[in-house]
Amino acid sequence: MSTKRSRVLVLVCSTRPGALGPAVGEWLAETLAPSARTLDVDLVPLALGDLRLPFLDEEEHPSSGVYRNEHTRRWSAIVGEADGFIIVTPEYNYGMPATLKNALDYLGPEWAWKPVGFVSYGNTSAGTRAVQHAKQVVTTLRLVPLGATVAIRIGEVLEEGRFQPAAPLAEAAEGVLAELVRVAHALAPLRERASAVPGPVPGSYARRLHPDDAPEVTVVQRCCWADEAIANGTLAIPPLHESPEEVRDWLAEWQATGLWRDGRLLGMVRTRRHGADLEVGRLAVVPDLRGLGLGRWLLRTAESAGEGCRRILLSTGAASSQNLALYKSAGYTPLPAPTDDGVVHLAKTPSR
Ligand SMILES: Cc1cc2nc3c(=O)[nH]c(=O)nc-3n(C[C@H](O)[C@H](O)[C@H](O)COP(=O)(O)O)c2cc1C
Repeated sequence: MSTKRSRVLVLVCSTRPGALGPAVGEWLAETLAPSARTLDVDLVPLALGDLRLPFLDEEEHPSSGVYRNEHTRRWSAIVGEADGFIIVTPEYNYGMPATLKNALDYLGPEWAWKPVGFVSYGNTSAGTRAVQHAKQVVTTLRLVPLGATVAIRIGEVLEEGRFQPAAPLAEAAEGVLAELVRVAHALAPLRERASAVPGPVPGSYARRLHPDDAPEVTVVQRCCWADEAIANGTLAIPPLHESPEEVRDWLAEWQATGLWRDGRLLGMVRTRRHGADLEVGRLAVVPDLRGLGLGRWLLRTAESAGEGCRRILLSTGAASSQNLALYKSAGYTPLPAPTDDGVVHLAKTPSR
């Protein structure tokens, strides 16, 4: 799972002149600003009215991702970039406002596996019927509604026409944001999996590793290269010692692929072009999943970056018998050793 900042859209749904919605949205943004800073959240307020979305006017079903209209593409980009949503909604005739239903209907995969919290307002029901109505729609889109909620009775928060909510409502709003962030992190693997390359074991998927993945990569390196240290009788192995900052630096420089399942990093490999050669390194599979072909699959993935290159180069410890067996069976042959440093360098000519 990435530790990057979360982007949370605060959607204000009402569009009537003189509507209460903007005041609720402003109060929410102000109330949540300190916790947003602590939780590494960028709160992005957006009035649905400003989007100027007409009633759904796309020919294709949203699941196709084929959008003919500029307003749809703009809305798709906004929702696609978000990690979660807080919907500020009134109750109109025991349900959600048509603006919200229309905005939801416009898109498909952009909503999927992201949390949604509600801040509702109304008369006696405090907008809760609008929320129940919206919940049954959003689950179809694979949006995940939160349990935490803010429900505001208008009669209790208006003082001389001004929106003055009491402290418990602010606490409830903070509860929504805290839960939203936790759920957004928990759902991140499902979101990634939807757009990633399927991996070799059920539920696994591969994606490019980024500098933000440094904590997970550091853990896998230390765990995997402990075996190498034992086999080769030395601790002088860089992946055993690299700090998360050093890992972050090479992740920015190398092309690295991670194999994941449910947010756990199962294995990895990195590649870099060096002149006419492709360097492959840091091939690792977590100890409990060895022998299932993950290493071979990662090696093939790495080699696919070698199109047009003269040689593919890699190295391993001279006593790393399992690594050597894998590399030799994949067509690598040892190069003459320039020094006796306990490392074997191997090369392969890529197939054309
Ligand atoms: C078309 C319409 C329908 C409404 N229906 C409900 C309702 O079913 N339940 C309720 O509690 N309030 C209802 N109200 C009152 C709204 O809760 C109140 O006017 C609120 O300020 C509307 O939000 P807005 O000002 O952001 O548009 C309705 C208001 C409008 C304009």
